[in-house]
Amino acid sequence: MARGKKIYEGKAKTLYEGPEPGTLIQYFKDDATAFNAEKKAIVDGKGVLNNRLSEFFMEGLNSIGVPNHFIKRLNMREQLIRQCEIVPLEVIVRNYAAGSMSKRLGIEEGTQLPRPIIEFSYKDDDLGDPLVPEEYIIAFGWASQQEMDDIVALALRVNDYLSGVMYGVGIKLIDFKIEIGRVFEGDFMRLIVADEISPDSCRLWDIESGQKLDKDVFRRDLGNLTDAYTEVARRLGVLPTNGPAAANSVIN
Ligand code: TMP
Repeated sequence: MARGKKIYEGKAKTLYEGPEPGTLIQYFKDDATAFNAEKKAIVDGKGVLNNRLSEFFMEGLNSIGVPNHFIKRLNMREQLIRQCEIVPLEVIVRNYAAGSMSKRLGIEEGTQLPRPIIEFSYKDDDLGDPLVPEEYIIAFGWASQQEMDDIVALALRVNDYLSGVMYGVGIKLIDFKIEIGRVFEGDFMRLIVADEISPDSCRLWDIESGQKLDKDVFRRDLGNLTDAYTEVARRLGVLPTNGPAAANSVIN
């Protein structure tokens, strides 16, 4: 499919104009970054895996009626998505303490939380995506109270879906981040899940061994990131036919 003009380039993905108004093409790069891009690498095959994995999760969410931006996968690295206005928040859901929560509160990583906890970061790389209370979000007009209620409901549905799917393949969903977009239909606005859902934006631990199968492998130098993501894809049955390495050689 002919690709339109570049609309936006992020750390792990690039967005191009889509074939029809209201659509975009999302291209998954092999770039891995951590700590607000202080640490960077090219990880061969990561983009191919994340394209497949995000397709798998978004299609699953579609099938249970959780609205999201995914339309269809175009090739190994690209998918057609609905254009939306991104709410400038990172919506984080935690089932077990880890990462910044463990650091902030001194809770051992892997401690089960009394219930899923949702938190919000304001999306601004220059500020390092600071954690913000809901009161800031409403007061500064980043989202309305009604939208926040809808965002919480969406995030909890995504959490139930993802936790169940991962549990079914022997993986514990520790936490994840999603982004939400607004789509306008006539006079109507609704919220959809946008961006991506992949091991870049989740913490995934093997239930038996506790082995990390997510971007912490890169953040903390724990081994080969492609191997970890390939294992997640293999368990979910979504490996590209010839494997990520082969896939790399046939993409644009
Ligand atoms: P944190 O413990 O570092 O705050 O991360 C919480 C979750 O959010 C974890 O699954 C990783 C994900 N995440 C992103 O997707 N992007 C980010 O920029 C950060 C900091 C975390």
